[in-house]
Amino acid sequence: MAQTYRFTVNGEDREVSARPDLPLIYVLRNQLGLTGTHYGCGLEQCGACMVLVDDEAVYACTRTMDSVANKSVLTMEGLGTREAPHPLQQAFMEEQAGQCGYCLSGILISAKALLDRNPNPSRSEIATALDGHLCRCGAHTRIIRAIERAART
Ligand code: FES
Ligand code: FES
Repeated sequence: MAQTYRFTVNGEDREVSARPDLPLIYVLRNQLGLTGTHYGCGLEQCGACMVLVDDEAVYACTRTMDSVANKSVLTMEGLGTREAPHPLQQAFMEEQAGQCGYCLSGILISAKALLDRNPNPSRSEIATALDGHLCRCGAHTRIIRAIERAART
C-alpha cells in the first residue's frame, strides 16, 4: 500500500506517494521527472542508476523508498548546470569521455563520491571506485583521465 514519503532531492524538499518497496529510481524518473538517472540492469550490475543518498553512492534500482525517507538524495541533475557545470562534468567534456553517454550519469555520481572523500585519488583508486560500473562503449580510459583532470582542478 502506498505511503507518503518526504525526502530531499537535489536540495529541494519533496513529498511523494509510493509503495515502501518501490525502488527509488521509479520515483525519480516517473514521479519527479529526473530522467538523468538511467535504468540498466535493475540488479546492481551496471551502475547506470547510481545516486548519492546522504553522500553515499547507492544503486537507485534496488534502494527502496522506505530506506530513503527523510534522507538527502543527489542525482545527476543536482550536480551542475549547462551554464555552470560541476568540475567533473567540465573534465568529462574536455576529455570527451563519453560516447553514447548512457553510463555517464552513474559514473559521475560515483566519481563525485570518490573525490569528496579523496580529492587526490590514484589511478587504481579511481578504477576501484568505478568497479560497480559498466561502459559498453569502452570509454574507460578517457573516463579515468577525466576524473584525474577533475581532481587536478
Ligand atoms: S540499473 Fe542499477 S545497477 Fe544497473
Ligand atoms: S559511454 Fe556508452 S556506455 Fe559508457
